[in-house]
Amino acid sequence: MNRMTGKIVLVTGAASGIGKASAIRLASEGAIVVCADRNVKGAEETAASLAGATAVEFDAASAASCRALVDHVIATHGKLDVLCNIAGIGGFGHAAQVADEEWDRLIAINLSSIFHMTKAALPHLEKTQGNIVNMASASGLVGASYASAYSASKAGVVGYTRTVALEYAAKQVRVNAICPGGVDTPLIAGGSVMGTIEGIDFALVARMSPKMAPLAQPEDIAAAVAFLASDDAKFITGIMLPVDGGQTAG
Ligand SMILES: NC(=O)c1ccc[n+]([C@@H]2O[C@H](COP(=O)([O-])OP(=O)(O)OC[C@H]3O[C@@H](n4cnc5c(N)ncnc54)[C@H](O)[C@@H]3O)[C@@H](O)[C@H]2O)c1
Repeated sequence: MNRMTGKIVLVTGAASGIGKASAIRLASEGAIVVCADRNVKGAEETAASLAGATAVEFDAASAASCRALVDHVIATHGKLDVLCNIAGIGGFGHAAQVADEEWDRLIAINLSSIFHMTKAALPHLEKTQGNIVNMASASGLVGASYASAYSASKAGVVGYTRTVALEYAAKQVRVNAICPGGVDTPLIAGGSVMGTIEGIDFALVARMSPKMAPLAQPEDIAAAVAFLASDDAKFITGIMLPVDGGQTAG
């Protein structure tokens, strides 16, 4: 498939997990990918194997860094077709024990960064009639035991995505989000993260698991990213696409 030929695509979180798999998938479909991450070495490793790809260091926790990243893409490539906001962090533990700083950091990296990236990118996406793919989570659609701050950050992404989609639909800029369930990446320590928390109810944790297999692979999510980013989804905007093996089905 060459659905992305000629497209300039910015992928955040491209050093690892879902962002890395998405960069690889989008490049395999012809995109020129800018791989952004605070782990620039990892982003460089991803970009090194992809035709035309480059790596950029950025910090999602910094509004200035988000703006500079979009500016860099425009200065380098002259346009932006697709923005994939994938960088993110986890945060797990009992609701009463979430440190103030942890709450602030989760909201900054998982939610505020999407605001800053989107605000900077929208004028450029209007010109290309491009689109945004945000990485929300099943935890943003339903409650996620022992992940209260994380769940709040992702529910924020859901509301923000839907609203920007409404405002920009008539301008032919699509804005969608993907809601993965558990995915085999370092963010959840390959699925073992809950085992490190003392005194939790594992029946609650089990309800949060994909039903088809213990975990999805990053490539399963990347396939959905590529679909929403492509013209195959040209009449799709404002959706929250669960890729969760039935986790939120009931
Ligand atoms: N793994 C899961 O089970 C799961 C489920 C649902 C949603 N998600 C979401 O998918 C996205 C990717 O997560 P993943 O599972 O691939 O994890 P990951 O840890 O493998 O990758 C996250 C990437 O984001 C980067 N990153 C983190 N903080 C950053 C910052 N401040 N600035 C720039 N880059 C930063 C990391 O360096 C890393 O490369 C996240 O938004 C996550 O919330 C993951």
